[in-house]
Amino acid sequence: MSHAEDPSGDRRDFLYYATAGTGVVVAGAAAWPLVNSMNPSADTRAASTLRVDVSGVAEGTQLTVLFLGKPIFIRRSTPDEIEAAQAVELSELPDADARNENIGTAEATVANRFVSPTGGEEIDPSAGGWLIMQGVCTHLGCVPLGNGAGDFGGWFCPCHGSHYDTAGRIRRGPAPQNLPIPTVEFIDESTILLG
Ligand code: FES
Repeated sequence: MSHAEDPSGDRRDFLYYATAGTGVVVAGAAAWPLVNSMNPSADTRAASTLRVDVSGVAEGTQLTVLFLGKPIFIRRSTPDEIEAAQAVELSELPDADARNENIGTAEATVANRFVSPTGGEEIDPSAGGWLIMQGVCTHLGCVPLGNGAGDFGGWFCPCHGSHYDTAGRIRRGPAPQNLPIPTVEFIDESTILLG
């Protein structure tokens, strides 16, 4: 059983996150080096929600937090990553659904996968954007590697070779679906609320 599938308990109550200033957190297939702070109460409004301060997340880096037993990738994407995702035709996607809990069934476009830093519905690559996803491979639940891993510059699951693009959409391999986007919103410029 991977960590991502592990329903056992204790971790559920804790937030592990890397300080944003340290840059990228790379998630492994069987374990992920999240660390730095354990603060179960200060950032937690209720058991089913989690506030995350993303003010220190630099463009081109990813913060990983653990929420309800699953890793959540919080990536501040670069303009190049967003443009690369915008250039992909929907017909090229094995899974054309956005898999976004916040909007329901919708096409897997950049606008339906990313969150604009200004709160608008359009994603302007030059302004950047946030990609917030469950870091759980949709094949059998391993934690994909990030940081431009894989053949499409996004994430790669080494368990059985699934490649995800810069919008977290499955492009090749056995995974059937895009990495899912959980319920999330910005509650101010630098704070997101999960759940
Ligand atoms: S669990 Fe990711 S490819 Fe199989």
